[in-house]
Amino acid sequence: MINPWSSSDFFDYERLKKEFGIEEMNYNFDNFLFRRHLILGQRSIDYIDYALKNSLKFNVMTGLMPSGEMHLGNKSAIDQVIFFQKLGGRVSIAVADLESYSTRGISLEKARNVAIEKYILNYIAMGLEPCEIYFQSKNSDVQFLAYMLGNRTNMNELRSLYGFTDTHDLLHINSPLIQAADVLHTQMKKYGGPAPTVVPVGFDQDPHIRLMRDLSKRMRIFNIQYDRDLIVSVRGKDDPKEFIDLAYDYLSKTYTNVKKDYEYRVVRCEGVSEGDLVKIDLDLANIESKYNDFTFVPPSATYQKLMKGLKGGKMSSSVPDSLISLNDDPKEAKRKIMSGMTGGRDTEEEQRRLGGEPEKCPIFDLYNYEIEDDKYVKEVYEDCKNGRRMCGFCKREIAEKMAGWLSELSKKREEAREKLSLYIHE
Ligand code: TRP
Repeated sequence: MINPWSSSDFFDYERLKKEFGIEEMNYNFDNFLFRRHLILGQRSIDYIDYALKNSLKFNVMTGLMPSGEMHLGNKSAIDQVIFFQKLGGRVSIAVADLESYSTRGISLEKARNVAIEKYILNYIAMGLEPCEIYFQSKNSDVQFLAYMLGNRTNMNELRSLYGFTDTHDLLHINSPLIQAADVLHTQMKKYGGPAPTVVPVGFDQDPHIRLMRDLSKRMRIFNIQYDRDLIVSVRGKDDPKEFIDLAYDYLSKTYTNVKKDYEYRVVRCEGVSEGDLVKIDLDLANIESKYNDFTFVPPSATYQKLMKGLKGGKMSSSVPDSLISLNDDPKEAKRKIMSGMTGGRDTEEEQRRLGGEPEKCPIFDLYNYEIEDDKYVKEVYEDCKNGRRMCGFCKREIAEKMAGWLSELSKKREEAREKLSLYIHE
């Protein structure tokens, strides 16, 4: 089981992928995080691929937990959001103030302040264009949807996903439904209707992703199954006839061997290849959405690898010297980098002879996650491996670069303040 509220350690990504059915990240998006396999897992990213190839609208969704610091370890989700926004994605961002209240006891006022000062100003400074940023506590569409999603899950499921026990309070138990509603509400009519939606996450969020994907299917009237033949069944209607006809008529336009059965509430269609499933799901969702405002296609997710903390382990708010915060004073950041751990050998002689171990090195991670130039980062990697590059040199070089970037960012943060109303629409 993965506990999204207290995952303190690195994950064995390959094991998790196997165990929970997270797929390989096998789409070549033109972005260094993808090229370097720092994003190494996905669920139904083919929906996003389909939207991009067919110039369809798609959503990009993320949420921020307004506690602790925005640091380099949680920055790459926003790097992805900005990347997908440039590709045309419509961005929504939830401030998870209900979640931080219910799971960490943070007041709504404090959450608001932290969200704006430590997170949102940085997002804008990093280049996020105007989009929709909202507070869970103020969004009645999200709250209403979370309430309705409660009708499609039960304690057994939540217990096995999250390990909830009898002593967890009801707000905490409800918080995964709020998060599911964060993501799914972007497909309600008022927000543009059903559309592929990508959610960049860390592996710790996977229980939420599994739950919201299952819930999205349980809210549907059309239920799609594929086992060489396509089977569309109609759920929850006293009289399924109208919907059977809708699915039958739609499929008959493209396929010749389509059969309907009112009694068993299904339409069966032969000759459908797996590659057609995304299109069929989206088309059927669009048909269904005229009757059901909770028509959702399953959200897609990308899974990123965690950045190493400067003290070994992961970069985490609970170890201040392990992280570079986006709000750090550049001098302070330099100090932390200079005293950080490396993948270097015990002596300079050994390092020249054996080469360093960049795959274990938090300092190399700074290059890998923060420097866009592939050629240059590859050179750093190879020079380290070959024993030509020493740790002191790397540290000084990247400390300079990070300090420069941070002071640039702090200037942009002040300009960002003027633009807040283009993001938070209240
Ligand atoms: N639970 C997330 C976290 O701890 C925050 C979050 C809330 C979120 N709503 C979301 C993330 C929707 C992605 C999508 O960081």
